[in-house]
Amino acid sequence: MTNPVRVGLVGLGVIAETHLAVLAERPDVRLEFTVDPGRVAPVEFRGSTPAHHGDLDRALDEHRPDLVVLATPTETHAELTSLALLRSTARLLVEKPLVHDCAALAELRELEGKADVRGRVFTAHHFAFSPEVDWAAELLASHPDWGPVTAVTSAFYDPYVLRGPEAFASYVSSWMDSGVNQLSMLTRFVDLTGLTSARETDSGASAWCTVDFRSRGEVGTARLRSSWLTGSSSKESSLVFGRSGVEVWIDHTAMTGFAARGDDLLATFGTDGRTPRKVAHYSPLYDSLLSGRPDPVLGFDTAATITSIHGAVPKAR
Ligand SMILES: NC(=O)c1ccc[n+]([C@@H]2O[C@H](COP(=O)([O-])OP(=O)(O)OC[C@H]3O[C@@H](n4cnc5c(N)ncnc54)[C@H](O)[C@@H]3O)[C@@H](O)[C@H]2O)c1
Repeated sequence: MTNPVRVGLVGLGVIAETHLAVLAERPDVRLEFTVDPGRVAPVEFRGSTPAHHGDLDRALDEHRPDLVVLATPTETHAELTSLALLRSTARLLVEKPLVHDCAALAELRELEGKADVRGRVFTAHHFAFSPEVDWAAELLASHPDWGPVTAVTSAFYDPYVLRGPEAFASYVSSWMDSGVNQLSMLTRFVDLTGLTSARETDSGASAWCTVDFRSRGEVGTARLRSSWLTGSSSKESSLVFGRSGVEVWIDHTAMTGFAARGDDLLATFGTDGRTPRKVAHYSPLYDSLLSGRPDPVLGFDTAATITSIHGAVPKAR
């Protein structure tokens, strides 16, 4: 028996519930401590209550974790990542987005030399592990005959307008929150090359951005819509293979998909409905992270590429 991975979970808000649910199912981990200044009571984990602290600095005085999971508001990620890199030897799983801007990314890069940034920092790009995305990526790989992806349209809606200023405090903006999910999902299908336009509206609660990509040697464009002005969550993407007339439609909310050409239904995908959506993302994500060979989509270089494209001043065509 190898020793269980000692985990420290920092931030006990909405997404921490999913981390706790997935970690609780893994016999290879032990939750050693939690951190959240906004909460006094420890969490219950597999029938016990791990130590709880009000700040990460103090927690790292007392614990030697193997993995620190950062599930705190987006604008705290960079500072807490630096702290955990310098005050521990743990690997870090940072919630997406890794950082809130390119300057914060540069500061993390500067730590290389003092800490193994590229070897220790992983980002929870969970949409890249969603079952319908996995299905569509395999379909694409097995159909070179469909030619390149020539256009993508993706629309991600979250009902965060109901959470008011709290949503901006946790997630910054719709483009910061959903844009990074859309970009990490797209890395499964195409090679992103650059932001070509960015328009944020509704004080940051909505966005319309375009990103160029390469697919099978050709250039295409992805149109990315996101907004919090909705009563329910709804997320869909469509991939068009313009040369062959094939379209792949994936519904990220329902975790379903289909491929069609004209009136021909070419392939379909559904799930058995037993696994909640976020667990369906984070379960394979942790499998990959703890496998010894984490998927590159979790790695620092992917997060750096996504951050630079996401935070770029759009290139004139
Ligand atoms: N909610 C989701 O569905 C979801 C999904 C994927 C990723 N994320 C990402 O996860 C992060 C957190 O999102 P959330 O929805 O859980 O937010 P949240 O606001 O519900 O929770 C954040 C928690 O972090 C705590 N916190 C704040 N500063 C802290 C600090 N310095 N140290 C320790 N704890 C601190 C807060 O008290 C709060 O309990 C965000 O970056 C978000 O983009 C969220």
